[in-house]
Amino acid sequence: SQVQAIEVKKVKKAKNMAFAFDIDGVLVHGDRLIPEGKRALEILNGDNELGIKIPHIFLTNGSGKPEKPRCDQLSSILKNPVSTDQFIQSHTPMSALSEYYHTVLVVGGVGYRCRDVAEQYGFKDVVVPNDIVAWDPSIAPYREFTQQEAAMSRPRDFTKCNIEAILVFSDSRDYATDMQIIMDLLLSENGRLTTKAKDPVSQRIPIYFSQGDLLCPTEHWYPRMSQGAFRIGLEAMYKALTGVDLERVVYGKPELATYKYADEVLTSWMSELHGEEKLPENIYMVGDNPASDIIGGNMYGWNTCLVRTGVFQGGENDENNPANFGVFPNVLEAVQTALRKEL
Ligand code: G3P
Ligand code: MG
Repeated sequence: SQVQAIEVKKVKKAKNMAFAFDIDGVLVHGDRLIPEGKRALEILNGDNELGIKIPHIFLTNGSGKPEKPRCDQLSSILKNPVSTDQFIQSHTPMSALSEYYHTVLVVGGVGYRCRDVAEQYGFKDVVVPNDIVAWDPSIAPYREFTQQEAAMSRPRDFTKCNIEAILVFSDSRDYATDMQIIMDLLLSENGRLTTKAKDPVSQRIPIYFSQGDLLCPTEHWYPRMSQGAFRIGLEAMYKALTGVDLERVVYGKPELATYKYADEVLTSWMSELHGEEKLPENIYMVGDNPASDIIGGNMYGWNTCLVRTGVFQGGENDENNPANFGVFPNVLEAVQTALRKEL
């Protein structure tokens, strides 16, 4: 019948669309649910007129925890399943680097959590700044090192090992110590502490950052400095000390590599959901930060939806990076409008 024909058409269209959600400022604020986020996900998880699942992935610049516990935490806050197969946080694509480097310095995050993340990514020998402080406390003269921290660290003779790369995974909890150790390594001969490179460029080990956000909204009335600000500080110090620019690689939104990675994740998530390994034609990115979610989505040819529940506080649309699909009061409105357009 005609009704059935319309239904078949709609199902076909639904299978040709997908969503990429930013997390902070769209679905949650920290650990607090944004209620429209729960409803939006219920709709995409099958509570819609067609009764079918509409694929969606999560693309966040968040960091600092292994994927599995973070997804479990999000599932319980959002009251909807969040699988690691549909989840990309800032350092997720950095797991590929474990094939190239054996001994790495991993910087940032609470306690020793980022060591766990890196080990789960397959890095064989993960050093964190505390291991180096435990070996030689004088490296960080203003640092007060607690006994508990010392007990959990893994000191060794760092004059006998080369650190092959520096990976900043998450926000530094101690700029003074982390910047000092990173700078010591960047100025060393091939990552060997206590040496000084003759040539700052050819003997320098590479440095990677998991994301580039300058600011991050918190409970404070004005956003706090994030990894991007830490990186810019390091770059300026490096230039002042050596006279040359610091080459570096940045991951996360809005970097192209992260969107390419998202395509791969979405393609395999499509096959898990619809049994067909095919990238949908109509992808909607829902984000709150024009300078990361929206600019990245626009450049990548996605439909971009800017919501007012997070960083963006402006007028009709963002002036520098306007969302091409529109500005919405919240994620539910964005999802409903996209579904109305496509189906
Ligand atoms: O700025 C770091 C992080 O909190 C941003 O998360 O989900 O908005 O990309 P998200
Ligand atoms: Mg956000």
